[in-house]
This record gives sequence, C-alpha cells and structure tokens, in this order.
Amino acid sequence: MAETMTAKNNRTIQLTEEDRQRDLGRFILNVDCLEHEWPENSVDMLFLDPPYNLEKDFGVVKFKEVKNYREYVSSLVYRLSHVVKPGGSVFLCNEWSASCDCVEAIERCYNLKNRLTWQREKGRASKSNWKAGCEDIWWGVNDQADYKFYPERIKIRKQVIAPYKEGGKAKDWDETTGFRDTGSSNFLNIFSVPFWSMPENTPHPTQKPEKLLAMLILATTDEGDVVFDPFCGSGTTPVVAKKLGRKYIACDVDRDWCLYTSKRLDLAEGDSSIQGYHDGVFWERNTLKYQQQIKFEENVLDA
Ligand SMILES: C[S@@+](CC[C@H](N)C(=O)[O-])C[C@H]1O[C@@H](n2cnc3c(N)ncnc32)[C@H](O)[C@@H]1O
Repeated sequence: MAETMTAKNNRTIQLTEEDRQRDLGRFILNVDCLEHEWPENSVDMLFLDPPYNLEKDFGVVKFKEVKNYREYVSSLVYRLSHVVKPGGSVFLCNEWSASCDCVEAIERCYNLKNRLTWQREKGRASKSNWKAGCEDIWWGVNDQADYKFYPERIKIRKQVIAPYKEGGKAKDWDETTGFRDTGSSNFLNIFSVPFWSMPENTPHPTQKPEKLLAMLILATTDEGDVVFDPFCGSGTTPVVAKKLGRKYIACDVDRDWCLYTSKRLDLAEGDSSIQGYHDGVFWERNTLKYQQQIKFEENVLDA
C-alpha cells in the first residue's frame, strides 16, 4: 500500500524514448566545458556547480576524490573567467572542505563579494564527524565599483513570531496575513533539496533547487541578461533563467543531462512557476498553504 502511494505521488521527470531522439537546441551544448571555446565578455552571470571533491557517479562523469582539488577548481574558474562581462557576476558552489580552495580560485580572477551558506537538509549522518547540513556559494564580481545587486527583489516572507506594534499598529508586518517581508541575509534556510514529490525533481544526484537559482539570478541580473552554466546537470539554471525572462547558455558533458535540461525547458513553456517564489517574494519553508491561499484569492479576483 505504502509503495503504491509513493509511486502515485512521485513526480520525478523521466526521459522517454521520444525525448532521447530530440534535438538539444542552440543553447544547450553536449560538450566538455573545459575543452570548448567560449566567447569573451559574453555573459552577465556565470554559475559554477562543478563536481565536489567527493565520490559521485554522474553517469558519464564518475568523480573520485582527488588530492589536488585546489588545482582542479582553480584552473576551471580561470579557464572560464574570460566569458564574464565587465559588470558581471560569478557564483561558485561547494561544501565546507573545499572552502579555502574556492576562495583562492575566486580571488585569482574576481573580486570576492560574499559567501552564501544555504542549509541543505539531506544526506546521511556520520559516525565520525558532524553531518554536512549546508553548502557554500561564493560570489565574485569583475568590477567592485560596477556590478548588479538588487536586494529588493530577493525579500523573504516570514511568519511573524513576535508581532510588534507601535501606536496600536503593526510595525513592519502585515496584520491581515501575519507575515513580514525581510531582506535576505547570507545565511539561507529557505530551500529544500528537490525530492520525488516536487515537479522539478529529476534523477540527477546533485540537483539544485529552482528557488535557490531564482534568488541568485534575480539578485544579480536583469531581464534579457545572459546566464551561463557550464556544469548544468539537470538544467536548473537555464530553466530558471528562462522562467525569469533571462537568456541562457548551458552545457554538460553527459548527453542524458542535456536531454533532461531540454525537456525541463520545454515544460517551462507551459509553466513558469518556481516553487517557493510567489507574489514577488521568497517564502520561508512550510508556508505552501498560505501561498496556495494567495493564488486562490488571485484566481477568484481574476474570474
Ligand atoms: C554538481 S553537478 C551540477 C548539478 C546542476 N547544478 C543541477 O542543478 O542539476 C555537475 C555536473 O557537471 C557535469 N560535468 C562534469 N565535468 C564536466 C565538464 N568538464 N564539462 C561539462 N560538464 C561536466 C556532470 O555530468 C554533472 O552533471
């Protein structure tokens, strides 16, 4: 009984035989990003989510822990750095043990702006160490004096725990809903790793959440800007770029992941929603029923 329920609610995207015959289109390339020639000064945002220094089977790529990960990450950042426009941004993902390597790699080519830490509630507990419950995303810019950052576009909607009033009126929160919109800090605990009941889920072993990419893209790019992901995996970055009206270019060395990316881009034609980003704000976790209520009220007003 439990098995049937799981199968019924499992929304993981799968490739069909027909999908496997499809053309990838102009902007999804099945290439090795470190071998391919990329045009200089051509993108506004570069999102780097390479294999971490952990044993992981991506399909074509079977990554094994290496001693010289510092060299790997540093040379890939350097190899791709010329593509970013003078006013552009780069994001580099990794987990705690590669933090020093990432800082060095970013500082070699960019100005380091921040470290975003996002809580990633997945993974097994360890008997010999604390379980890894978060990941870092290092943000660098080409020009300290001329880069894009839009904090007003990445506000977080939170439930008010201590409803403070001044002169009998709600201070900085909405009395009708009990929520307030607050600026985003560099510690982010509002994302959930995609899982089987989410429509964005694919079989990719390290898929990033759409909500996370939406935050980075909205914060540092404008509509029409170009977003580039050379390690695109299941396609989260180009899919979110498309949903938010940005241009995209992406590649993966594994054709299957390119096919998943293409399929998700097609699905985005009919559905540009991003789970957890609604009404122009990022909702904290476990607020789906309130988001649905707002959607319902909007639909009633539209009808
Ligand atoms: C950490 S995953 C990226 C996951 C992705 N952000 C997502 O949301 O699904 C890294 C991906 O890089 C790909 N890859 C590894 N080395 C590559 C290379 N040299 N060129 C292109 N793709 C590569 C792997 O096949 C894998 O899908």
